[in-house]
Amino acid sequence: MNTFLLMTDVDEIIEQLDEITADYDGKTILLAGGLGFLGRYFMSVFARLNETKFSEPCKLIILDNLITSGKASNYIDQYPEFKFLEQDITTPLNIDEHIDFVIHCAGIASPFYYRAHPLETADVAIAGNRNLLEVAKSNQARYTFFSSSEIYGDPDPKHIPTPESYRGNVSSQGPRACYDESKRMGETLCYIYNHLHGTATTIIRPFNVYGPGMQEADYRVLPNFASLIKAGKPLKVYGGGNQTRTFCYVTDAINGFLRAIAKGVPGETYNIGNPKPEISMVELVQHCSDAIGKKIDHNIIEYPDSYPADEPNRRCPDIRKAKLQLEYVPNVDLKTGLQRFLSWTDDNFVGEQ
Ligand SMILES: NC(=O)c1ccc[n+]([C@@H]2O[C@H](COP(=O)([O-])OP(=O)(O)OC[C@H]3O[C@@H](n4cnc5c(N)ncnc54)[C@H](O)[C@@H]3O)[C@@H](O)[C@H]2O)c1
Repeated sequence: MNTFLLMTDVDEIIEQLDEITADYDGKTILLAGGLGFLGRYFMSVFARLNETKFSEPCKLIILDNLITSGKASNYIDQYPEFKFLEQDITTPLNIDEHIDFVIHCAGIASPFYYRAHPLETADVAIAGNRNLLEVAKSNQARYTFFSSSEIYGDPDPKHIPTPESYRGNVSSQGPRACYDESKRMGETLCYIYNHLHGTATTIIRPFNVYGPGMQEADYRVLPNFASLIKAGKPLKVYGGGNQTRTFCYVTDAINGFLRAIAKGVPGETYNIGNPKPEISMVELVQHCSDAIGKKIDHNIIEYPDSYPADEPNRRCPDIRKAKLQLEYVPNVDLKTGLQRFLSWTDDNFVGEQ
């Protein structure tokens, strides 16, 4: 049994997906980045569906080069329908099986790691994407690329909440460009394959997903906070602390993703996140404190060298398109999500990365 996520969360995702799950019954899915935070949820949801719901098990081919995932676990071995290949997707892929869905959720998602690996970050969204698009094309599979809300850059306040039609305010240079610009090029490749070859591509732009299963050494804001909370130390808030984000609990996000992967209109792009509340990082400290019922101190500090400064001031999704086309509605409020996450990190983190 999977011990690195909450099984109650996995069951909640399946319950919310309801009849959408039928689209995956008996299908073969190529999952790139399968050992990452989101990839492990996909694996767990499909494993659970095989155990509880599917008339024919779905097969999973999981690719990951372990660059940020840590070691491969033997968790996969207990599922005969799942196969793990340690593979860098930027190198040629030899997939013999017929594939129904390609899910590209490989990437170097945490700013700390893309600062350390800028070329690998660009390659996985461009060369890796191209290799996977070829697999989708030759199999006539549905294809999903995990882009990012970062492709919007630093939007003018009049474009917040930000709809999919907003074209972005992004720099092609600087410490964040390897991530933002390669995701933009990745989207362009999906557009080309859709128009040139008729590949059924869907692009997802996730907005700050969090939840149990994040690694302590992930270095995104909530695992950073959780690690310091576990250590009983003041939280470190970078920059002025006034930059705002919205946070989407992982059950809501995976529900939205699996809806988009199965039902997204080919060629379309979907924001998936939770637009409420949009809060500053200083306010996030207060929300964490409310969630655990304990006062938490914080210090506002300069950006460390390991973290790319120049981050967007505000980030908040307009999710009306996903609501309308995919019936996607996030329903875990921030307090509940933080309680689940911080209680899980209290059991699983060692304190202060
Ligand atoms: N989690 C979020 O809030 C969020 C927000 C925006 C975008 N995204 C995107 O969604 C995707 C999944 O996010 P996540 O949070 O699970 O990230 P993650 O970093 O936890 O997982 C990504 C996985 O991809 C693997 N990987 C990286 N390069 C690879 C390569 N060349 N070949 C094979 N595997 C490779 C890593 O080892 C890791 O296991 C990423 O593309 C990310 O950019 C996530």
